[in-house]
Amino acid sequence: DSMKLQARLSLFPLILVVTGFLALAKANPLTSKVIIDSDPGVDDAMAILFALQSPKVELLGITTVFGNVATKLATLNALRLVELSGKHVPVAQGAEKPWVIPKHPSPDFVHGEDGLGNINLPLPAGKPVSRSAAQFIVDAVISDSGEVTILALGPLTNLALALAVEPRIAESVKEVIVMGGVVTAEGNVSPVAEANIWGDPHAADIVFTAPWQVTMVGLDVTHKVLLTDDILLRIKEKNPTLGEFIYKSSRFYLNFHKSIGLNVGFYVHDPSAVAYLIDKSLFQAKKGAVRVVTEGIGIGQTIMASSDEHSANPGPWFGKPKVNVCLGVNSRRLLELFESTMIR
Ligand code: RIB
Ligand code: CA
Repeated sequence: DSMKLQARLSLFPLILVVTGFLALAKANPLTSKVIIDSDPGVDDAMAILFALQSPKVELLGITTVFGNVATKLATLNALRLVELSGKHVPVAQGAEKPWVIPKHPSPDFVHGEDGLGNINLPLPAGKPVSRSAAQFIVDAVISDSGEVTILALGPLTNLALALAVEPRIAESVKEVIVMGGVVTAEGNVSPVAEANIWGDPHAADIVFTAPWQVTMVGLDVTHKVLLTDDILLRIKEKNPTLGEFIYKSSRFYLNFHKSIGLNVGFYVHDPSAVAYLIDKSLFQAKKGAVRVVTEGIGIGQTIMASSDEHSANPGPWFGKPKVNVCLGVNSRRLLELFESTMIR
């Protein structure tokens, strides 16, 4: 018996190591299962390719929405990007108009008429799946409870629809990462509003106040990350297929940035949200309830209650879930992550 006890005791350190390793692996999984909801879009295209290239991302599907282009074109572009990458990822088509307000015209002066910088890629060979984007999101989140992250890179209509179809996704999703909004800086479609939130403010307010963990990667951080041509040229040299595409498709987008006075590069809004998914240590964030202005001159503004000081006078923020709002970013490390991932 004492031999048996000794043998068991000698296994104890090993058991501790294995248990510790398993706990760590659960907390920091090697890959994240992700659905990207997107309106490609030059910077969406870069984000999708970034995710497809990353060993830390398992892309379960791309769902499409209006925004930079109309939804049908967003679907064609998502299929084009999947085919360019040589991977097999399902694409599900989503909403064609916002929850309440009329759809804004597509910003073809930013992304070109084709949404990819007017490079006129051929039509894709593939087709979208027959399920709607909202149903695709619901099915994936429910069937893999606790494992799936939703990365939203366009207006939030599909996410709000998915919540309406199946509210239980709020408790089953791992995290929702939203590229959109701004709380401490200036907007990009009005002095206070960011384009994705302005595209469907009612859906955005539903998403920010639902009982799930939302992280907001907004202009507070994306306006601090400028991608420059030296990086794109190095990617093009080492990964000619994707590098050539990104370089060509970003020329129109770069010219738009020059026209608004940015001469050194362009904003990589959507890739910054992918960077958050891959490496959260690149960002500093603060938690607070976020509400969206849904009418008037401030429509699309995201207002964060950064403290509970107002609880004596409960307002629209009172009792709402706390959003994780990114306010600081290490731009150099983010761009290094983008480059190293795109050339691997
Ligand atoms: O404001 C930036 C966002 O809107 C990004 O998602 C980009 O694609 C743009 O249209
Ligand atoms: Ca986008």
